[in-house]
Amino acid sequence: MLISEKQALTERVGMLVQKYGNSRSALIPILQDIQYNFKYVSDFEQQEVARLLDIHPVEVYSVVSFYSFLSPNIRGKYIVRLCQTISCELSGKEKVAKAIERELGIKFGETTKDKKFTLEYTNCMGMCDQSPAMMINEKVYANLTPEKAVQILKEVK
Ligand code: FES
Repeated sequence: MLISEKQALTERVGMLVQKYGNSRSALIPILQDIQYNFKYVSDFEQQEVARLLDIHPVEVYSVVSFYSFLSPNIRGKYIVRLCQTISCELSGKEKVAKAIERELGIKFGETTKDKKFTLEYTNCMGMCDQSPAMMINEKVYANLTPEKAVQILKEVK
């Protein structure tokens, strides 16, 4: 990363600390703000947040990796989250997953080269009576079949 890029990131994190404060309780709002605007929280930003809040970088990293709404890696414009909990598992989640992977040419946990789609598994999203279910960003899709899931992806594309 260029020095000017690092300076810009440092300034941006500094502004967020001014906005949310430098107490430990500001950690999640600051990370959410970075995530919202840049779709992920880079290593460098995590270190800067840790430095400015005077906490250990490992603590920041654990928060970023624990919450599914935060990510330490660049993710796609569309985050496809397929439920992997029992009702969805029993009603054909695996076949849906395979069809989605085939359609996008990536595996779960990966992002397409054009940064358009990221595939992730998630846990129960309360749609068990209409399983299998997935979310694309904030929108929920239920009663999926492999064909229906592929059709939804084609429409999003
Ligand atoms: S188990 Fe998948 S939505 Fe509940």
